Amino acid sequence: MPFLDIQQLKKRFGSVQTLHGIDLQIEEGEFIVFVGPSGCGKSTLLRTIAGLESVTEGRIYLGGRDVTHSPPSARAMAMVFQSYALYPHMTVEQNLSFGMRMRGEIRSTIETKLARAIQILQLEPYLHRKPGELSGGQCQRVAIGRAIVQEPAVFLFDEPLSNLDAELRLRMRVEISALHKKLGRTMVYVTHDQVEAMTLADRIVVLRDGWVEQVGSPMQLYTNPDNAFVAGFIGSPAMNFLPATVDSVDASGQATVLLDGRARWACALRDGHGATSGQAITVGVRPEHWELQDAGQSPSDTAVPVPLHLVERLGAVSQAYGRIGVTEVCISVHPERGLAVGDTVWVTPRAQRLFAFGAQGQCISQRHA
Ligand SMILES: Nc1ncnc2c1ncn2[C@@H]1O[C@H](COP(=O)(O)OP(=O)(O)OP(=O)(O)O)[C@@H](O)[C@H]1O
Ligand SMILES: [Mg+2]
Repeated sequence: MPFLDIQQLKKRFGSVQTLHGIDLQIEEGEFIVFVGPSGCGKSTLLRTIAGLESVTEGRIYLGGRDVTHSPPSARAMAMVFQSYALYPHMTVEQNLSFGMRMRGEIRSTIETKLARAIQILQLEPYLHRKPGELSGGQCQRVAIGRAIVQEPAVFLFDEPLSNLDAELRLRMRVEISALHKKLGRTMVYVTHDQVEAMTLADRIVVLRDGWVEQVGSPMQLYTNPDNAFVAGFIGSPAMNFLPATVDSVDASGQATVLLDGRARWACALRDGHGATSGQAITVGVRPEHWELQDAGQSPSDTAVPVPLHLVERLGAVSQAYGRIGVTEVCISVHPERGLAVGDTVWVTPRAQRLFAFGAQGQCISQRHA
């Protein structure tokens, strides 16, 4: 039995349906991350789990108990918001203990829990300061501390690090990961940040327009996306998508696709791919999966030319941008390659790294091990 079991969850605000029958099973101690474009329903789903939004249809079970209509206080869940939501007139210590005092917990219990949260988050130096006298990162630590003292069965985070600068985000990300290991509690975390999603999650849930597109480990989603949406969403810079035509496909699913009317690329298709010769499909190549021909070498019949109009040097890697036909593509290259605007590079997808997608966006190329 899953620890947190979400069954056919639907949410309507008036006539607008925001969640369309979400099914999600989360194991105890798992770190689950929700990602998806703005407005796809991440916060709504999280708030419905917390009990801050009512459920229109469907059920939510926690540890086998039906909590669908339980008030937030009866769910053993604690939520951490992007905005921190601290009481400005209270000190850090008062912010941390307020909930416990309101629940009428006894003094010794409050002090034990407080001491533990202070120690885990190293809040000792700030206990007597008010939120206005703290940095964003310190405020967020207090907000997390307030969740810890509730000793919840499930931690819910809604973009907790979005207000922080890049360096602090990284530090807090490492802290949250350590916190998860230390507490061993179930965590559900919403983020827009690819790196946070990839590094924190045991499993990522990709949402789109209130539907679950795919659930899987970060590397499963990167390596074997079910469809073009997930393929384009996971990975940064995003996968390049190019229109292509199936040139030939044999009985074992080995296909040749025609690119830009000239280059032929080999692509192994999965069982039930349904592609036939002459059919228009979309192929996908990640920026890091291009092979570049050496300068001066005569182009092979698998290579396509890409005149470059932008080269971004990021230090460890350079991103070169150009077009194949009319489609903008991004190519990640080693900086020592020394590419410059105005150069034309000839590229081929690395063997076994070409994705193919059918008319509905479903992935039809062979799964990777
Ligand atoms: N209280 C509400 N009343 C009406 N519509 C709402 C309400 N809350 C959310 N919505 C709508 O539900 C949809 C999902 O919103 P939600 O806040 O869950 O998106 P999100 O994925 O968290 O987006 P973001 O990444 O921008 O935070 C949006 O279209 C939003 O306008
Ligand atoms: Mg949101």
